[in-house]
Amino acid sequence: MSEKLFINGGRKLSGTISVDGAKNSAVALIPAAILAESEVVIEGLPDILDVHTLYKIIGELGGSVRHDQQKAIIDPSHLVDMPLPSGNVKKLRASYYLMGAMLGRFKKAVIGLPGGCYLGPRPIDQHIKGFKALGAEVTNEQGAIYLRANELRGARIYLDVVSVGATINIMLAAVLAKGKTVIENAAKEPEIIDVATLLNNMGANIKGAGTDTIRIKGVEKLTGCHHTIIPDRIEAGTYMILAAAVGKGIRIENIIPDHLEGIQAKLSEMGVPIEMGEDAVFIGEADRLKRIDVKTYTYPGFPTDLQQPLTALLTQAEGNSIVTDTIYPSRFKQIAELERMGGCFKMEGRSAIIMGKTDLQGTKVKATDLRAGAALVIAGLLASGQTEIAEIHHIERGYSRIIEKLTSIGADIKKKSTETFIH
Ligand code: EPU
Repeated sequence: MSEKLFINGGRKLSGTISVDGAKNSAVALIPAAILAESEVVIEGLPDILDVHTLYKIIGELGGSVRHDQQKAIIDPSHLVDMPLPSGNVKKLRASYYLMGAMLGRFKKAVIGLPGGCYLGPRPIDQHIKGFKALGAEVTNEQGAIYLRANELRGARIYLDVVSVGATINIMLAAVLAKGKTVIENAAKEPEIIDVATLLNNMGANIKGAGTDTIRIKGVEKLTGCHHTIIPDRIEAGTYMILAAAVGKGIRIENIIPDHLEGIQAKLSEMGVPIEMGEDAVFIGEADRLKRIDVKTYTYPGFPTDLQQPLTALLTQAEGNSIVTDTIYPSRFKQIAELERMGGCFKMEGRSAIIMGKTDLQGTKVKATDLRAGAALVIAGLLASGQTEIAEIHHIERGYSRIIEKLTSIGADIKKKSTETFIH
């Protein structure tokens, strides 16, 4: 059954949108719960496919998850070290966190190589370098990673590439290792601090998360705790871009302003009126949008996850804007789809040149990956006529209750499947 989004664009939107818990934290916090010996309660989880897939995987491993829309009670006490060479692990990128968590708890794991968005090559060599440094033997057999260790011992690990996934995965494997681990050249994203906070609440001893040196003293055991996830800075940033594109006054609440500095700076440079409050931001309507240049970097630089939605907005700026992705140089699949809607682009190496201002028209397009999907939703709201977006499971992997949220600010957006018609 294929489901599509139908958007009737050209309306100005206003009202308030509330941001949910961070996807990229959630997908690490749930595997982290595996390391505890008793129930872990996580509040504020986003209602997205990746989270539901992880609940299923915890169930496959013999754990139990009781959850409502936003809260999960994960009981990992009866987990078994079942190999997961295929199946649900293939549905999301973040299943790689099961490697670190299961290695930490059972000293062994078999995890199928992860799926998720195709953004060009996404190696996990730094994760594996870390596991090996901690004493694990790691092999790749028929598309699955096999990890085994007699015991895990703390080590000094220098990451050759600054990687969110490797930093978190090494933390997961090291918290129960014997002795001290130091991760140097660690990633500094807020999600790393969130995972370290959960692990410390479980009894771990992690210092320096959020800086480029993380120090971990191994402990004997971890126990359950209560944790509230941070808000999703990428969801917030996406709605800030959307508000700049089609808003006539949109308030976005449940945000941490410090996490949004990159997008706030770039939208201001475009001439978008922004009022930042303590935990909410108000985006006003700009008379005209100015062109900008953007380069993505690791945190606190401009996030790669927001460059795709931003390219949709830049079709409305006057003049040529240049967007360069230094993290994923080929993360530009949205461009071909936006071209079909009337956008004017030129690709030069790892940069997209967006030639504005152009009028967009609704047509049939495809969400090739999560953030490309977000770009198409913004373009669909901007476009005249109807936009039909296929492959929306990508969008549902990462944007919690998106139809509900956009409808509440006046968007005409509906999900239709061949059999049913759901608002
Ligand atoms: N890299 C390596 N070797 C490794 C790991 C990474 O060369 O072992 C390279 C990657 O190819 C990339 C760069 O290092 O060029 C950064 O990759 P990183 O490991 O930081 O990315 P990730 O952990 O796989 C997370 C988010 C992505 C987000 C990136 C960058 C999750 C589950 N995913 O991916 O989020 O784009 O960090 O910030 O946390 C998204 O939300 O749409 C998304 C793709």
